[in-house]
Amino acid sequence: MVATNITWHDGAFTRDERQKELGQKGLTIWFTGLSASGKSTLASALEQHLVSLKIAAYRLDGDNIRFGLNKDLGFGPEARTENIRRIAEVSKLFADSTQIAITAFISPYISDREAARKLHDQAGIPFVEVFADAPLSVVEERDPKGLYKKAKAGEIKEFTGISAPYEAPVNPEIHVKTHEVSIEEGVQIILDYLRQKEYIP
Ligand code: PPS
Repeated sequence: MVATNITWHDGAFTRDERQKELGQKGLTIWFTGLSASGKSTLASALEQHLVSLKIAAYRLDGDNIRFGLNKDLGFGPEARTENIRRIAEVSKLFADSTQIAITAFISPYISDREAARKLHDQAGIPFVEVFADAPLSVVEERDPKGLYKKAKAGEIKEFTGISAPYEAPVNPEIHVKTHEVSIEEGVQIILDYLRQKEYIP
């Protein structure tokens, strides 16, 4: 069922006016990577750093969002696509409100991430893809939640990297090799990029 008879309502402010009033630019920082690649850790450290600089930033994390907004979704390909579609919309809203939306989802399919990027492009909102990259052997070794072990034992079906695909980004704005740099160094790489683009002071 698709909604009909709906009308778009503009607010009193344009995005530019809102950004000037609030003194901050909105954008989405989109982390992608395997489970245990360091997405959530980096996203959380980045959020903490930005907020300590008095920059409004808010993190949307895969596990957390699946407790609420997306609790009706599983891990089959269509459910993952719907998961990412909803998060792309939500992050766009946060960014439109002038905040820095930081998303940490596996987002394993290139087409879904490109759809998220297109949504932002069409709205004129910056979209920064960050590849939290660590080889499968490393994330299997980390396995903080014991999920790889369960997946290999066949106890979790369609587990990314084991029995479901992960399509690595071809040309992400930022590539952090989390097995080669510390969390602080990873955050610094992202902050340097944001400053160079003048997204943050
Ligand atoms: S996705 O692919 O973007 O829709 O996944 P996401 O919403 O980021 O959720 C990933 C977290 O869900 C847990 N989990 C699984 N991940 C991958 N495959 C399967 N089958 C699965 N089942 C549960 C896991 O804790 C993931 O968290 P991270 O932080 O990535 O380890």
